[in-house]
Amino acid sequence: MKGLFLTLEGIDGAGKSSHIDALEALFKAQGRQVTRTREPGGTPIAETLRTMILTQPMDPLTESLLVFAARRDHIVRVIEPALARGEVVLCDRFTDATFAYQGAGRGFDAAVLSTLEQWVQGRPDDGALLQPDITLWFDLSPELAAERLAGARLPDKFESQPVEFFRRVAAGYAQRAAAAATRFVRIDAGQSRDQVWQQIEAALAARGLMGSR
Ligand code: TYD
Repeated sequence: MKGLFLTLEGIDGAGKSSHIDALEALFKAQGRQVTRTREPGGTPIAETLRTMILTQPMDPLTESLLVFAARRDHIVRVIEPALARGEVVLCDRFTDATFAYQGAGRGFDAAVLSTLEQWVQGRPDDGALLQPDITLWFDLSPELAAERLAGARLPDKFESQPVEFFRRVAAGYAQRAAAAATRFVRIDAGQSRDQVWQQIEAALAARGLMGSR
């Protein structure tokens, strides 16, 4: 069985995390092994870096280097081995978040991010990039996302950013989606939770990923 690399993306408050349990259950019901993970994070080193990234102010290059360092460890220790075993890897955020948050949100140079992406995700033999097979992009207006986040819990470094920051991040996601239209699936995250799940099922069915049910 070929591995499947599925990522979830979107601005903070878009609601992606609330569907990961159901995705895991769906693939397990098909008899597949599922590795469920997140970025930044997914290994002891990457989780340590996550805490630094999400709690401490730092310049955008430092932040980008730490994000990609965490990603490298995560790819080598978790993602690639799981894909090689033929598993489904469900990853809450990946490199699109770096282009959206560090690139568009913080205004950091996308060309530098692309270089780091090539170093970290490039195959040694031919340079081909490790990329998700499918990216569920939870698209929600920054205003609605802010409403949903308000009072939910203590905000981290990014969650406490003003709505203008999330407008730029959302634009960054839209740009990534336009550049990789076959990989990205836009989910209208403004709909009800059930309707959002129906959109996810429809997207998976369209790619033959709903099993034989
Ligand atoms: P998030 O995925 O929303 O987790 P939680 O639901 O536990 O808050 O938090 C991760 C934060 O990290 C989010 O605000 C986006 C940010 N982030 C980046 O800035 N760059 C990245 O490359 C990644 C993966 C995440």
